[in-house]
This record gives sequence, C-alpha cells and structure tokens, in this order.
Amino acid sequence: MARGFELISAISPLILLLSYFPELCRGSTIGVCYGRNADDLPTPDKVAQLVQLHKIKYLRIYDSNIQVLKAFANTGVELMIGIPNLDLLPFSQFQSNADTWLKNSILPYYPATKITYITVGAEVTESPTNISALVVPAMQNVHTALRKAGLQKKIKVSTTHSLGILSRSFPPSAGAFNSSHAFFLKPMLEFLADNQSPLMVDIYPYYAYRDSSTNVSLDYALFESSSEVIDPNTGLLYTNLFDAQIDAIYFALMALNFRTIKIMVTETGWPSKGSAKETAATPDNAQTYNTNLIRHVINDTGTPAKPGEELDIYIFSLFNENRKPGLGSERNWGLFYPDQTSVYNLDMTGSGAVDITTNANITSSNGTWCIASSTASELDLQSALDWACGSGNVDCSAIQPSQACYQPDTLPSHASYAFNSYYQQNGATDVACSFGGTGVKTNKNPSYDKCLYMTFGSNTTTANNVTSLPSTSSSIIYGISAWITQFTYGFPLILLILGIA
Ligand SMILES: *[C@@H]1O[C@H](CO)[C@@H](O)[C@H](O)[C@H]1NC(C)=O
Ligand SMILES: *[C@@H]1O[C@H](CO)[C@@H](O)[C@H](O)[C@H]1NC(C)=O
Ligand SMILES: *[C@@H]1O[C@H](CO)[C@@H](O)[C@H](O)[C@H]1NC(C)=O
Ligand SMILES: *[C@@H]1O[C@H](CO)[C@@H](O)[C@H](O)[C@H]1NC(C)=O
Ligand SMILES: *[C@@H]1O[C@H](CO)[C@@H](O)[C@H](O)[C@H]1NC(C)=O
Ligand SMILES: *[C@@H]1O[C@H](CO)[C@@H](O)[C@H](O)[C@H]1NC(C)=O
Ligand SMILES: *[C@@H]1O[C@H](CO)[C@@H](O)[C@H](O)[C@H]1NC(C)=O
Ligand SMILES: *[C@@H]1O[C@H](CO)[C@@H](O)[C@H](O)[C@H]1NC(C)=O
Repeated sequence: MARGFELISAISPLILLLSYFPELCRGSTIGVCYGRNADDLPTPDKVAQLVQLHKIKYLRIYDSNIQVLKAFANTGVELMIGIPNLDLLPFSQFQSNADTWLKNSILPYYPATKITYITVGAEVTESPTNISALVVPAMQNVHTALRKAGLQKKIKVSTTHSLGILSRSFPPSAGAFNSSHAFFLKPMLEFLADNQSPLMVDIYPYYAYRDSSTNVSLDYALFESSSEVIDPNTGLLYTNLFDAQIDAIYFALMALNFRTIKIMVTETGWPSKGSAKETAATPDNAQTYNTNLIRHVINDTGTPAKPGEELDIYIFSLFNENRKPGLGSERNWGLFYPDQTSVYNLDMTGSGAVDITTNANITSSNGTWCIASSTASELDLQSALDWACGSGNVDCSAIQPSQACYQPDTLPSHASYAFNSYYQQNGATDVACSFGGTGVKTNKNPSYDKCLYMTFGSNTTTANNVTSLPSTSSSIIYGISAWITQFTYGFPLILLILGIA
C-alpha cells in the first residue's frame, strides 16, 4: 500500500515534467569561466583574442572589471558579469548604489560589449560570513536599476549556488532544498520565476568523486559508465553523476512547485592536476570529462527527468589560477596555461557549431559516406586531400588549425572530411569517392559533432608529424554511443510506469 502511494506521488510530478515543453530558442550553449585569481595571466585584450580564436561565445567573469569589459567590445562574445560577495551589502542597502554602478560601470560599455547576465553574489551559502539575507534585496535593486534603463529583458539577474543548497540529492527524485536556507531561497526563487531568470548552480562531480570515491565510481563521474543507477521512485536510469545532480535540483524545484524556472550550470569542470591524494586530477580525466560534457549537452540531450531540455553550461575555467588557495587542484582547473597554450585539447565546437554547419557537408543523402582508405599511403592521401581542397572545390576551412574540425589533427581525419564533402556535393556516386583509390565508401556513419574522426591502425600514420587520436578520445566516442543507447532504452520505461498509472 505504502509502496503504491509512493509510486503515484512520484509519478505526478513526472507527468507534469513530461508535459512541459518549453519553446526552443537557441539550443544549449557552452561557455567558459574567466577567473582571474592569478598574477601571471595575459592582458584582457590578449584573452579576448584567445577566446575568439577558440570560438568561445559565452564567457563568465566574476566582477565588472573595466579592462575586461572594454576588451570584449565588438567581439560578439556574450558576457555574464558578477557582483562579488563583498559588494552585496552596499547593493542591498540602497537603490542608488545599484543605479550608480549600472550608470558608471556598465552602460558606458554596453551594448558594444554584450552582457546578458548579472550574478549578484556567488555561492553565498559557502561564505564564511552569513550574507545570505543580502542576496535578494541586492538582486532586486540591480533589477530595478536595469528596469529604469529599459534593460531588464536583455540582461537577466540571478545569483549562483553550490549544490550545498540541497539537503538531499539522492535519489534525484528525493532532491530537496535545505530548509535552513529557505529564508532566502524562497524569495529568490520567486524573484527568478517572476523575471524568467535561471537558477544558477555550480556542479562538480569531481568533488563528489574525490570526497566519496567508495560510493561514486570514476566512470560515473566522467560520463563513461557502462552501468546505470536507477532512481527507485521514478524508474529513471542515470549513467552519469552530472545528470543525477541536475535532476536532484529539478525535483527540489518541483517539490516547491516552481515549474517554470530553468537551471543553468554556471560552473563545472575537472582539474588537470592536484595534490598527491587527488589522483583523479589528471589531464586525461579533465579532457574526458569536458569532452563528454560538451557532447552530452550540445545537442539538447537533456537529463532523464527532462529529456530534450536545453541546458546552458560554463566550463570552469579558462586559465589555471596560481593564487587560489587550497589543495593543488584549486590552481589547475584551466583549459589554458597563462602563456595561452592548451593544457589539453578540447573540442569546443559546441560554441562554434554554426560555422561548421555552413561550411561542412558531413550529411549523407542516401546513407553512404566517403572516407580515407586505411590502406592508402600517406603520400597518396595527402595529394588526394590537396586535390579535394583545391581543384575539387571543397570548402576545407573547418579542418584548418584552430577551426572546428581540425582536431584530431590526423591526415586520415582531414582527408575523410574533405573526401566526404566532395562525395556528397557531387552526387554520392562511386566515382566521386575514388580519389585515386584512396577513398572508400561506407554506410556506417563516421561523423561526430559534424566532423569526421578517423582512427586507423599505426600502419597509416608513419610520419611523426601525424599524431594519432589518443586512445582516451576514441573510448569517449564509444562511451557516448553506448550512453545514447542506454538513454533511449531508458525512455520507454517511463512510459511504462505512466501507462500503469
Ligand atoms: C543567517 O542570517 C539569517 C538572517 O539574517 C538567519 O535567518 C539565518 O538563520 C542565518 N543562518 C545561519 C546559518 O546562521
Ligand atoms: C543545512 O544547512 C545548515 C546551515 O548551513 C547546515 O548546518 C546543515 O548541515 C545543512 N543540512 C544538510 C542536511 O545538509
Ligand atoms: C556511502 O554510502 C553509504 C550508504 O549509502 C553511506 O552510509 C556512507 O556515508 C557513504 N560514504 C561516503 C564517503 O559518502
Ligand atoms: C545527439 O547526438 C547524438 C550523436 O550524434 C545522436 O545520436 C542523438 O540522437 C542526439 N540527440 C538529440 C536529442 O538530438
Ligand atoms: C551537401 O550535400 C548535399 C547532398 O548531396 C547537397 O544537397 C548539399 O548541397 C551540400 N551542401 C553543401 C553546403 O555543399
Ligand atoms: C547512393 O548510393 C548508391 C549506392 O552506393 C549510389 O549508387 C548512388 O549513386 C548514391 N547517390 C544517390 C544520390 O542516390
Ligand atoms: C594496415 O591496415 C590494414 C587495414 O586495417 C590492414 O588490412 C593491413 O594488414 C595493415 N598492414 C600492416 C602491415 O599492418
Ligand atoms: C609536418 O608536415 C608539414 C607538411 O606536410 C611540414 O611543413 C612540417 O615541417 C612538418 N612538421 C614536422 C614537425 O615534421
């Protein structure tokens, strides 16, 4: 009896979840956090170039530094700016403080510098001093200042949270806010609902793994798990901790009847280095986490509780920050070293997806593709590639350095990209895939993220110039397809439960 009741009470929010389909706007977006707690970072102007070079379109900063605002003028990069916790008191006390700040520190640079979000305070529940009560009054004053300037629709006001706002996160359906924080969370959620602002949360599977490695497997934290965790209340299947944590927040919102508030992930990532005990902080794991994260989010996969839902995320962080206190990992979250070289390769195509669709042609009209033959010599492949990009009229811009399909930087991948584009543009006939015998047709879709990633045996990559795809990356690809299979397999189960209901 009790069991049946539990099932029904768990199902009703599910029905509401599934019947709520928000309008599609621009799809999920991938941004990066630009923390500046370091004394060796490049100037903001240089950073603006780096960000554009890597096609990062969304950037979060933690203050409203004028040099940074100026540097991003006319770049098209959308900024999330912040009011630090130390400034919450004046912002909460007087409307005029918010008005003056907006007038003097923001409006002179807007809209040349695109600003779309203001975070008022960050993770206040983690603050050593109790400043939670200041957050909502400060948010309201900032919002009012924006409204006076007619910008309240263009610039959204919110504040960020750690997962510590939850008292329970497992199973996800039991997600609940910690009632100790209710005095400020409730009015804050009302503010967010009234103003269509997102609930901003920083999500760190890394910490969950580091601090509880007996209960959380590394694969589960890295989106690499081949097994599922079942939520006994809903029957939803979870293959990664990220989704489970997001859904715990969804269910916490449902429990308070806030059905329209969207979640935004304002920080997530994985450190590439750490203290001796932080064994999971490695470049490989960081690359795996962030690569899987982008692929998971970019095409609106959603979470088990909200399939197909858009989710905007910000990867923490742009640079390693040498002045951050704490364990070794704290100073090693960066995608880049201060000298602007990459800590590891990360395909950020999510942010530059538009450029790829216009240039590339990885689609297939009749289920066949043309790729580089694994038996072709490097010399022949190179000349066929040169031909395709030259006389063959293929637009090869996407496989140029720093462009969307440059990685993996291997001859077979680049040649396959060019061959397939030529083939599709020229009627997908056998002759359009000959390339002097170096092309071969396949009916197995070789594309990923609108690029072609080829992994051949060592016998084709003879030159030390051509680095083959690291084995971690190919396991990522297979991990993801396995994940998707499990995901689609999980869905009917929901319907089954609903059907019974
Ligand atoms: C923080 O301050 C608020 C009121 O300003 C109070 O209601 C709340 O209990 C305090 N929280 C803690 C953890 O002391
Ligand atoms: C809820 O928050 C209070 C105040 O920060 C904290 O002392 C308590 O441990 C939290 N409860 C849970 C279950 O996390
Ligand atoms: C692991 O899970 C068990 C049971 O769910 C719990 O009692 C224990 O505290 C957890 N350990 C850690 C380190 O979180
Ligand atoms: C996301 O991409 C994968 C791989 O390309 C595809 O199989 C899956 O159906 C996509 N999901 C959505 C919701 O578009
Ligand atoms: C891509 O290939 C399709 C199918 O052959 C073709 O119709 C289309 O024009 C091509 N697109 C581009 C941009 O070349
Ligand atoms: C489709 O594939 C078949 C078999 O490979 C090929 O003969 C045909 O020319 C292709 N192109 C079109 C447009 O049907
Ligand atoms: C090279 O790779 C091809 C295709 O994978 C394989 O058939 C061939 O035996 C390989 N040659 C050598 C020398 O390993
Ligand atoms: C890699 O190959 C290119 C031309 O294919 C050549 O110009 C370059 O010097 C090579 N680099 C190395 C490190 O061998």
